[in-house]
Amino acid sequence: MRPALDSYTFVASGKVREIYQIDSDTLLMVASDRISAYDFVLSPEIPDKGRILTAMSFFWFDALGVPNHLAGGPDDERIPAELVGRSMVVHKLPMVPVECVARGYLTGSGLIDYNKTGAVCGVVLPSGLHEADKLPEPIFTPATKAEQGDHDENITFEQAADVVGTDLAESLRTATLDIYGRGADLAAGRGIILADTKFEFGQTPDGSLVLADEVLTPDSSRYWDAASYSPGHVQPSFDKQIVRNWLTSAASGWDRSSDDPPPSLPADVVERTRARYIEAYELISQKSFDDWPDHA
Ligand SMILES: Nc1ncnc2c1ncn2[C@@H]1O[C@H](COP(=O)(O)OP(=O)(O)OP(=O)(O)O)[C@@H](O)[C@H]1O
Ligand SMILES: [Mg+2]
Repeated sequence: MRPALDSYTFVASGKVREIYQIDSDTLLMVASDRISAYDFVLSPEIPDKGRILTAMSFFWFDALGVPNHLAGGPDDERIPAELVGRSMVVHKLPMVPVECVARGYLTGSGLIDYNKTGAVCGVVLPSGLHEADKLPEPIFTPATKAEQGDHDENITFEQAADVVGTDLAESLRTATLDIYGRGADLAAGRGIILADTKFEFGQTPDGSLVLADEVLTPDSSRYWDAASYSPGHVQPSFDKQIVRNWLTSAASGWDRSSDDPPPSLPADVVERTRARYIEAYELISQKSFDDWPDHA
């Protein structure tokens, strides 16, 4: 008999996930089917998105081969029946209070920073770079974890060192660039550019780093289609572009500059977006999503 969800203590809810406490050492992380764009959680949900992203995290945790926070597999008996496939049972760890971002390409807040200062988070870059250009080498661009609803704020390596100490900041940089490199290499061989990503680390009692949270999912990373990569302008998002295109098209009737929430997504946009997430999972993992566990 699997436990009922209400036998666990609710801990927190983010934009797309819910956290419960199984016992004092163990958490249940549940990925919903919610999707966000332009800082709004949209409706309706994308069916199976939570299972697809959970499948991706499990794939990457296994493929990366570094210590991670998983305390069981996708079928772990501690997962309530209705949440099998979208849940991870993880060791509850003290989290390092720095968001560990690696960037291999220049875009987003990195490009804004670069255009103002010639550097990203204090890492000086060659002049003349443009939107979506590949960087000479991947860089570590830490951020502070914002309160819910706020944006993470980019900080320099020195500021990260002020928060966690120089030794730990150096370990975070090394681990972040190492793991990003492994992930980007694997993805590149399968037609996907991992432009950037954010990792979160926990620590064991002896202080060593453990890769936690979700990992290398399209919610924590920018996935680009390598076949259509063309720097100089904003790259389409592998997963969210169908949604963004519709929201910013006349068809949606939505004015992004207003404070109004976006309208509901039409069924075909939802279905095509679902197919896109499955395509990303299957490309990366070389596995069929049909084989991923569903509610027991
Ligand atoms: N193994 C772990 N032990 C303890 N906390 C963890 C572990 N793995 C991840 N976390 C924490 O769990 C939380 C996951 O929350 P979630 O990502 O759903 O919401 P959020 O980060 O508050 O907001 P957002 O929706 O913007 O991501 C984060 O605070 C993360 O640091
Ligand atoms: Mg988060």
